[in-house]
This record gives sequence, structure tokens and C-alpha cells, in this order.
Amino acid sequence: MNDSFLRDFRVMSTFGATDGGGVERQAASLADGENRAWFTGWLVDNGFTVKVDAIGNIFGLLEIVPGAPYVVIGSHLDSQPLAGRFDGAYGVLAGAHAARAAAASIVAGVVPARFNLAVVDWFNEEGSRFKPSMMGSAVFTGMLPVDKALSTTDPTGTTVAEALDGIDGRGSFGGLDVAAYLEIHVEQGRELEDTGTTIGLVATTWMAHKLEVVVTGEQSHTGAARMVDRRDALYGAAELIVAVRRLIDGFEPEQLHTAVSEMYLDPNSPVAIAREVRMLVDIRSPERGILETAVERLRAHMTEIEATARVEIEVRGLVEWSSGPFLEEGLVLAAAEAERLGYSHRRSATVAGHDATNMKEVVPTVMLFVPSVDGISHNEREFTSDDDMLAGLKVLTAVLTRVASGALTATDADAVALSSDARA
Ligand code: HGY
Ligand code: MN
Ligand code: MN
Repeated sequence: MNDSFLRDFRVMSTFGATDGGGVERQAASLADGENRAWFTGWLVDNGFTVKVDAIGNIFGLLEIVPGAPYVVIGSHLDSQPLAGRFDGAYGVLAGAHAARAAAASIVAGVVPARFNLAVVDWFNEEGSRFKPSMMGSAVFTGMLPVDKALSTTDPTGTTVAEALDGIDGRGSFGGLDVAAYLEIHVEQGRELEDTGTTIGLVATTWMAHKLEVVVTGEQSHTGAARMVDRRDALYGAAELIVAVRRLIDGFEPEQLHTAVSEMYLDPNSPVAIAREVRMLVDIRSPERGILETAVERLRAHMTEIEATARVEIEVRGLVEWSSGPFLEEGLVLAAAEAERLGYSHRRSATVAGHDATNMKEVVPTVMLFVPSVDGISHNEREFTSDDDMLAGLKVLTAVLTRVASGALTATDADAVALSSDARA
């Protein structure tokens, strides 16, 4: 199992590989398409039936108990720009290897089976090329209408539908009865490394508000226009970016994370004052009260900046996910399996969003972490050791085998019918 996993991971890491040791595999890019094609071939070669749904989610099905609901396991293959080769891809491949191994034990009669197995690659978890993040699982869980997702455009005006068709990435799979969901992921933080722990048991998720903000001013001459007459959208945006960063000063350390990391301005000319700036403001906290106070304070800053920079500031869109616990029974089960296999483990909070963030709202969900060196992610330097990847794979396989035999959910009646067909 170990050698074949590492060999497969090395192959996956060649798709969209960058000189800095990372990958460039944004959603529905050619490199994402290559990786999806390789993954589809792996599924077929290993006896899975491959299905693709309307938003490009890829499912590999193993029907072991005819007509029974499925335990779904997976993550995402798309990446941020110039990013790490572990984020998402590790979880998809580990899920596939875990499902193959669990199925072999079930078929050999070593363990009983209550449910079937499905491995998934969720389309566009990263939300870099096409916003929002976690798009494929949001459509599958009914949180985002598929038509709205398909008509979303990237900065060049290409729609998700066009981009998926460009890599032959759409299908008509009608969905699944889902009994439970499992995901393993690199931690993208430093807690496991700092505490010398091998396995993170994801117990809670921070909440996130992602605000699309537009600052509107008026074009004028960068030289000739009198300073008192200017309505400089980029000056207003700059003040806003500093205000977003300084929100954290009003709270205890590690209680609020804020960033502005995407910005477009028009006309972006060296001799014309900006008339419009569009930016994405990312605000996260473990506590709803802190996040709401921070957003209130930001709105007050916006009013002040409108006056000082003589601009209008509008919040045009909001994507949010709430904080909240993961299933206690799943945490207890995963801890027991990590213990039995002799791996150190501790409960973790995730600050990053994941497809498990969506799935835990609708089905029993278990999420595991493995350590990220220096806590770095969304960076070519992202790294997790082979030993930690293999340890995570072993625990994931053990948890999957237990869940597939009904350890988390009692009867088929608990399963939830999910599909990506919900229209706007
Ligand atoms: O937005 C997120 O936190 C995720 O990494 N896409
Ligand atoms: Mn991820
Ligand atoms: Mn990511």
C-alpha cells in the first residue's frame, strides 16, 4: 500500500508542476484536466465505476452492498495559483487508496459492510479562479444552485461551464444516498508540528466572511488634477486594506484573521487616477460574536474613508460559512483508531474551509489532518513528509472501514440523498 501510494502521489505531483516544487492547477485549467484524467484512469483500473456530475465533481463508485447508501471519501484536485502539491490532492489520493483497501477487506469477508464506497474529487474547492471556495461540494449539498455556479465567470469572463467543457469535465450523474463523509487534509497550520502530533482530529471549524467590496471614485489626471478635487478609488482602497489588517489589534491574538489578497482596479493607468477598485476581504474567527463585531467596525471605517477619500464604498457580495463542531462520535471513533495504530493525535480546529465544511452540515462527517511543515500552505513550499502522509492513510483506512461497517450511522434511513442537479 505504501509504495503504490507514494508512487501515485509522485505521478500526480507532475501535473502542473512548477519549478519551485509546487503546482499550478487552478479549477478547470489544462493541468487540472490532466490530473482529473489520470485520477479517472486510476479509478477505472482499480475497479471503480466513474461518474461525473453537472458541476464537474468526479465520483468513483464501489458497489459492494447492492442498493445500500454510500460512504463518500475524498477532497479536491484543484490548487491555488503557484501553490502546494499536497493541499487537496493528498486527500483525494489517500481517499482512493483507503477505499481500495477497505473494499478488499470487506470483499475478503474480514470486515462486515453496511454501506458502499464512493471516492470524490470535488470541483473548484479553492475558489481562486472562480469564486466562491468549495463550489463543487456547495452545489452537491444544495447550498449553491448549479446554474448559478455554472454561470460564474473568471477574471477573463470565461464561465465555469465553458471552462469545464474545455476539459470535457461535465457529466449528468444524478447523485447518491450518502451515509457519511470522510476527508483527510494537510493541516495548513503549525499546531501538529509544534506539538509533535501525527494526526489531527478536526473538531471545529472557524467561521468565515468573504466580502466583495467595490470602491468607486472618479478618473482624473495624476498630475494636473488639484489634490482637493480628487476622488481617488485606489487611495480609498489602500486605507480600507490597512483598516482590515488593523481590525485584529482590537482582539486577543489568534481570535481574528483578516486579509485582502485579491484586487482589481480600473483603469490601472500610470497617469489616470483610479475610478474603481474591486477587492475580496477575508475575515475569519472561531467566535461569531468576534466576527460580527469586526465586520461592524469595518463598516464604520468604510464610512470614515468615504469622507476622507471622497469615494463610495459598497459591499456587493458575501460568502460565509459558520463555525461549529464536527460529530463527536466521529472524533471518538477516529481517536480510537489512531490510538490502536499507535499514532499520536489531538483535536484540531480548522481555519481554512474544506469540502468537509459543507458536508458536515448534511451528513455525519469525519475530518483528519496530517502535519504541514512550518504550517505553510497555498505556497510552493507546502510540505508534508512521506511518513506523515502514510500515517494519515493508515488511520483514514481504519476509520473508513469502521464507518463502512456502520460504526457511525445506524440504518439506511439515516442516509441523505444528495445531487448537483438543484437548479436556481
Ligand atoms: O477558503 C478557504 O479557506 C479554502 O482554503 N478554499
Ligand atoms: Mn484544500
Ligand atoms: Mn487550499
